[in-house]
Amino acid sequence: MKSFIPFSLPLIEEEEKKDVLDALDSGWITTGPRVKQFEKRFAEYINCKNAIAVNSGTAALHLALEAVGLKEGDEVIIPTMTFTATGEVVTYFKAKPVLVDCEEDTLLIDVGKIEEKINKKTKAIIPVHFGGQACDMEEILHLARKYNLKIIEDAAHSLPTKYKSKMIGTFGDITCFSFYATKTITTGEGGMACTENNEFAERMKIMSLHGINKDAWKRYNSEGSWNYEVIEGGYKYNMTDIAAALGIAQLKKCNKFYRRREQIANTYTKAFKEIPEINTPFVKEYGTHAWHLYVIQLDLAMLKINRAQFIEKMKENGVGCSVHFIPLHLHPYYKKAFGYEHKEFPVATNVYERIVSLPIYPKMTNQDVDYIIENVKKIIKKNKR
Ligand SMILES: Cc1ncc(COP(=O)(O)O)c(C=O)c1O
Repeated sequence: MKSFIPFSLPLIEEEEKKDVLDALDSGWITTGPRVKQFEKRFAEYINCKNAIAVNSGTAALHLALEAVGLKEGDEVIIPTMTFTATGEVVTYFKAKPVLVDCEEDTLLIDVGKIEEKINKKTKAIIPVHFGGQACDMEEILHLARKYNLKIIEDAAHSLPTKYKSKMIGTFGDITCFSFYATKTITTGEGGMACTENNEFAERMKIMSLHGINKDAWKRYNSEGSWNYEVIEGGYKYNMTDIAAALGIAQLKKCNKFYRRREQIANTYTKAFKEIPEINTPFVKEYGTHAWHLYVIQLDLAMLKINRAQFIEKMKENGVGCSVHFIPLHLHPYYKKAFGYEHKEFPVATNVYERIVSLPIYPKMTNQDVDYIIENVKKIIKKNKR
């Protein structure tokens, strides 16, 4: 057996290492010129007006909700099929995350089930571009206009993703990206909030650094001044120049990384096409898929093993798999705090039992991909009903 293929690995090459060392040697390691450069390059890449770099995708989501004025008692509509960060940020305001079921094939929020959850308290919708595929933004923006709601896109998985030939990053009021270690580009930890609205941008900049008025990060260099004013009760969410150095180098490779992810996804899909026990990801025709995740669905009625056993067997054979996601309504916190029940989300509850995320990242070799395919096929063949 070959050595273990982990579920995810970042691809950090000489260029990144050199740029990070340069940042360390520069004498300016916290927020500084490299963060400004990363923001500028990211905004150019997305073709958006403002990009604000922060220390996580979660921080970006929090700042976005603050900027649009979320208040205690408000409600925010989010999918149940997401990571807890999407819901957690809503609770920071003592507001309520209102969960919506997902589509069975794409695992995206079921847009047709959003409207019934809208009421007077609803302030915003956070669509999550699950796995790297865009939600139907036209439909969501239509609801936003009809009910005067803010749209904060959770784009943690969707760099680079296109919806109707335009990059995700400018459709909603604010779009939040993540550069967590497993994401399509990484800064270790990091995030970016993009917006066309200058007021939201200004607010997020100020709140990301203690609520200190503009460009507080400059206060220790020759352009800055010791004198500053705290104009709001802010947060400590600024990105460091060390992280930004990594981000700038990674962003240059974003298209290359994307092509490799797409190649792996296509290889998987072709290989699994003839296996009736496996459903491969469904890709909508309106956009592109960033392939942050490759989620297969097992047809459990055709198998003698369940999903957990399948993952365990993959692990025994040296392949790390994962599950995206355990829907929020199945977690103790969301059940206890908001009283969610399984039956309210029949699709997510059901599909959760059969989803498996396979490794997909540019560092994988063709041999790794072949090895994974071979083992998926072997396990399925051995455990057919
Ligand atoms: C859908 C989704 N939203 C938000 C986040 C939070 O991003 P970060 O880890 O950068 O805070 C994640 C995960 O990492 C995620 O998967």
